[in-house]
Parts: sequence; C-alpha cells; structure tokens
Amino acid sequence: MEVKIAEVIGFCFGVKRAIEIALKAIKEGEEVYTIGPLIHNIEVIKELEKKGIKIANSIEEIKGEKIIIRAHGVPPNFYEEAKKLEKKLYDGTCPYVKLVQNLAKKLFKEGYEVIIIGKKEHPEIKGVMGYIENKGIVISSPKEVKNLNIKNKRIGVVVQTTFREDLFKKIINEILSKSFETKIFNTRCPDTRLRQEKTIELAKESDLMIIVGGKDSSNTRRLFEISKKYSKFAYHIERPEEIKREWFKGVKKVGIAGGSSTPREIVLKVKEIIENIDKG
Ligand code: F3S
Repeated sequence: MEVKIAEVIGFCFGVKRAIEIALKAIKEGEEVYTIGPLIHNIEVIKELEKKGIKIANSIEEIKGEKIIIRAHGVPPNFYEEAKKLEKKLYDGTCPYVKLVQNLAKKLFKEGYEVIIIGKKEHPEIKGVMGYIENKGIVISSPKEVKNLNIKNKRIGVVVQTTFREDLFKKIINEILSKSFETKIFNTRCPDTRLRQEKTIELAKESDLMIIVGGKDSSNTRRLFEISKKYSKFAYHIERPEEIKREWFKGVKKVGIAGGSSTPREIVLKVKEIIENIDKG
C-alpha cells in the first residue's frame, strides 16, 4: 500500500499566530480566557488548558482580566463590551479574517448590498456581520441566489476564508447572472486555497483519503467534502485511534490530509499507524 501525505499539513499561519498570542499572554501571569475553544483540536486544547488558557461561553462568565480573541474574530461590539467590563484583550484575529471584516465594512459604507458567502452559524461570519450592522445576506449555495432580490442593486461580495473554491465560483456565476453591478472580493485565505488544492491533487490519485481534524472545524470539513468528491473512499477522523483496519482491505493508494488546526505530528502519527496496518 502506498501512503502519501498532502503537501501542506500542520497549523496554518493564523492558528500559529493565535496560539503564540495566547501563550504570550499567559507568560505574563494569571489565567487567560477564550470564548469557545481557541482551535478545533481537543488534544491541543487540553494542553493549552494545562498552561492556564481556559474556555468560557460568554464574556460575562469570565472572572479573570485577560481575554484572547480567537483567529475567527469577533463583532465590533465585543471590543466595546470588553472595555466596559475592564478586560484586557489579546487579539488573535487572523489578519485574513480582519481583511474580510474590513472589506465588508467598506462595501457597506459605499452603499453596496453585502453578500457574504459562508456559513451563517460560523463565528467568522457572525463577526463579519457585526461590521455591517448585521445587514448582510449570508448564503452558502448557488440555489440560495435564486431567491434573492438583487436585480437592480449594487452588490458587494466577500467570502468566508475557508470556503470551497468550486462552490464559490458557482455562487458567483449565479450572482453575476442576476445582478446589475457586482464587486467581488475573493477573500478565501492563501492557506485554504493551497490546502484545498493539494488535497484535490492527492484525492485524485488516491483510492482512499483520511482527513484528520476537528469535527467542528469548518476548514477540515471542506477538505473532507473535497476528498469524497475526488476519491473513492474518504474518512474524517479527529484522532489516530479512530482508524479501522478494515477500511484498507483491497486499497492500494492512501492519501492523508489535515485541517489548519491539526498539529503536524498527529498527521504523521496517522501515517505511521496506516503503514503498520499494511505491515500486518
Ligand atoms: Fe487565517 Fe486562513 Fe488559518 S484565515 S486562521 S490562515 S485558515
């Protein structure tokens, strides 16, 4: 059995940066808090908790002074609220997410009807919506464009950093076929573009794909969707222990890819386990 790893694995730039910011804050002393997990990886979260990075569900719940903003970003009223409550913020918002926020705000100010291509319930999108007074239209499929009344409007488009390339293009084509004036910012981040591209390449040449990463991780789920599309079999696992021997019966080529918050070592461990299964 041939086992190959995708060319891009390990933490992305934004995840690395957010962890560094959190660790820097912790070095200065007391406990620090994040609203929701800092990244979508249980093992890493456990390690960070041991170091004093705690998870809260809301700002009111936080007893300590220091709050880390996750790479996904937050709406602007979060900064105001933190100031009112005299909290000290450490901003881990990924610069690529910041760009989406700023561009959406710019479009909104210029009078465009803002369409955000992405998942409504994702924290990144909730944050971006805050920059346009929650007046944007969030869509994630081409068929949703059909119901939009955008015929004679000036439309401004931004896209979730981790969105799928193929789906993005289909949605844009639908919008262009209906709208009068459209300004599009392709705000998919460089890491997402490369990781998805390399996963497609690998999935095309593999019989079976293993995608390693959090079940809640949006970018990991996109890699899994891509893998299902291009490879005969695909499995999404969070931990190496989830691998099952029977998956590999009759399989000749296995590809492994990991999400942007999956540590490199976990992907390498998965490879080692699969190679051991092959050796019997
Ligand atoms: Fe940033 Fe892209 Fe990672 S937006 S957090 S570099 S997946």
